[in-house]
Amino acid sequence: METPRHFPYGFIDREIISQAAIDARVKELGKEITQDYKDSERLLLLGLLRGSVVFLTDLMREIKRPITMDFMSVSSYNKSESSGFVRIDSDHKTNIRGWDVILIDDIVDSGYTIRTVRKLLLDREPRSLKVCALLDKPERHKVDIHIDYLGFSIPDYFVVGYGLDYDEKGRNLPYIAAIDLQKGEE
Ligand code: IMP
Ligand code: MG
Repeated sequence: METPRHFPYGFIDREIISQAAIDARVKELGKEITQDYKDSERLLLLGLLRGSVVFLTDLMREIKRPITMDFMSVSSYNKSESSGFVRIDSDHKTNIRGWDVILIDDIVDSGYTIRTVRKLLLDREPRSLKVCALLDKPERHKVDIHIDYLGFSIPDYFVVGYGLDYDEKGRNLPYIAAIDLQKGEE
């Protein structure tokens, strides 16, 4: 496959989830969330920067309920491996006490990010807290994580596109592609 010009490395392996498949799944998740929160007056979509931005902005338009959005920025990654230490770089602004919160991330890998942020948010006494992720790599989990709304489960590939990056590149690809890190290091 020819490397698209908006990704500067020569090691995009292959498209694993098409734009059409993402679009269809996001619509389904939006419907499900709309139904589940039909009685909620205070629904907050809380995205983790920066990877969840593309997913969150598409998903929110499929939720036919009043919503608020907010963001937190966390980091734990060196290019492609979690360090296990999840650092909160910037916090959300909304006081979530009494809110129905959906924590949104791009992908669950080791699970450390979701576990750490979930614990922190629970301390802040939301009315409810659920987890939504576009992608999950179950083979990579190091801790037990429950994902309430999941886009797709994938094998242990490193992926870019639709918000996900490798070294900050590739977020603007409209589909999900697996990259071969060994090829890139040659
Ligand atoms: P965890 O804490 O190991 O579950 O990692 C979650 C975070 O790692 C995600 O929010 C992503 O930012 C990043 N990440 C994990 N796997 C990938 C991948 O395949 N592509 C891009 N980012 C990834
Ligand atoms: Mg992330």
